[in-house]
Amino acid sequence: MEKLIINGGKRLTGTVKISGAKNAVLPVIAATLLGQDKETCLEEVPNLDDVNTISEVLRTLGVKVSHDKEEGKLYVDATSIENITAPYDLVRKMRASFLIMGPLLARLGEAKISLPGGCAIGTRPIDLHLKGFEALGAQISIGHGYIEAKAPNGLKGSRIYLDFPSVGATENILMAAAMAEGQSIIENPAQEPEIVDLANYLNIMGAKIRGAGTNVIKVEGAKKLIAHDYTIIPDRIEAGTYMIAAAMTKGDVYIENAISEHIKPVIAKLKEAGVTVIEDIEGIRVTCDRRPKGVDIKTLPYPGFPTDMQAQFMAMLTISEGTSVVTETVFENRFMHVDELRRMGAKIKIDGRTSVVHGVDTLTGCQVKATDLRAGAAIVLAGLVAEGETQIGYIHHIDRGYDNLVEKLVALGADIKRVDQ
Ligand code: UD1
Repeated sequence: MEKLIINGGKRLTGTVKISGAKNAVLPVIAATLLGQDKETCLEEVPNLDDVNTISEVLRTLGVKVSHDKEEGKLYVDATSIENITAPYDLVRKMRASFLIMGPLLARLGEAKISLPGGCAIGTRPIDLHLKGFEALGAQISIGHGYIEAKAPNGLKGSRIYLDFPSVGATENILMAAAMAEGQSIIENPAQEPEIVDLANYLNIMGAKIRGAGTNVIKVEGAKKLIAHDYTIIPDRIEAGTYMIAAAMTKGDVYIENAISEHIKPVIAKLKEAGVTVIEDIEGIRVTCDRRPKGVDIKTLPYPGFPTDMQAQFMAMLTISEGTSVVTETVFENRFMHVDELRRMGAKIKIDGRTSVVHGVDTLTGCQVKATDLRAGAAIVLAGLVAEGETQIGYIHHIDRGYDNLVEKLVALGADIKRVDQ
């Protein structure tokens, strides 16, 4: 098993280039299933385990997928789809595999996907996805660990209200509605930049979607979508993680490719903490010459503070001046990083969905583990400033979502390496 070893205390300086967004590329790869007639080339595809997993899911459907990792290009040929089943082994690895249900239903009128099962950051149900498919006329049945959806006569446009603006449900329903007959209206959808990216991609293939990024999305179903090349947006969560790395190490880092519009709440909170953030058209520069101040954060659906930045921001708060309150409202049980940060000397108390962080002068390196993707990022950040050596296990969680993390941090001056145990 591989580990990360970090010797803390190095100031990060220089430029880091942000890769394509994990949470944009996964739904876009699922949406390639809707594209007919020719091969698709996706550009700015990050080299992540989650991309490998969804590629594997497509291959089990008989779709041809090849990934040029050097060039960041992924080629998908979905001109013919031979199978409609996604097996447990793949869905268990990555819940986002469920995103193929919408496109399969829309294109073939049928899909069978293993139930995703439990997950480290809460129960994460899929009821909203299924409610949307049912509203579009699909029949859903559950048995033997699989969910089957059928619409033998095709999907019919409908009005769908989401009780919560779920990102995955919005994406799945959007892909299904793109080829349903007639008009669909999705009320209270997620408004994340990744939703807009998916809608842009579907529209390039011939879909008619308006309002993505607002609180109502209107879709006029198209009879056929034609495969088209596409470039993925930069990863706002990766950008936010490097912004915090710069702030925590009292560094000076230019985060090239970051779109500040996508990460406003993180910028606002960093500024409130006394960190200097300078935005320009090509990226964001973050500098900090003193200890950040404690601030309160509360996660919310976009455009609120992203839950995917909560753990990393908390890592910064552990060494900030004063007391901070962190409230998680999007997921239950998303404080798995707290125990690991405590092992490193952080002072954090949890009360339900709220954590109270008392900033300490220094963290100390020790053996810790990545309990999920963003929790893993948080302990890497803590390791960058901790006294002595931090050893991080279970790094496969981090490999799911950070492209070339070690290489990028080393280029900024960090002392971090990956070792085989
Ligand atoms: C996506 C992101 C993930 C991010 C999350 C919230 C991808 C691949 N993953 O996950 O990184 O943390 O958005 O920004 O894009 N819920 C229901 N019923 C449903 C669906 C969701 O109750 O049918 C609940 C979930 O349990 C959770 C909340 O809604 O409490 C948010 O989940 P959702 O927005 O669906 O997240 P994902 O799409 O799984």
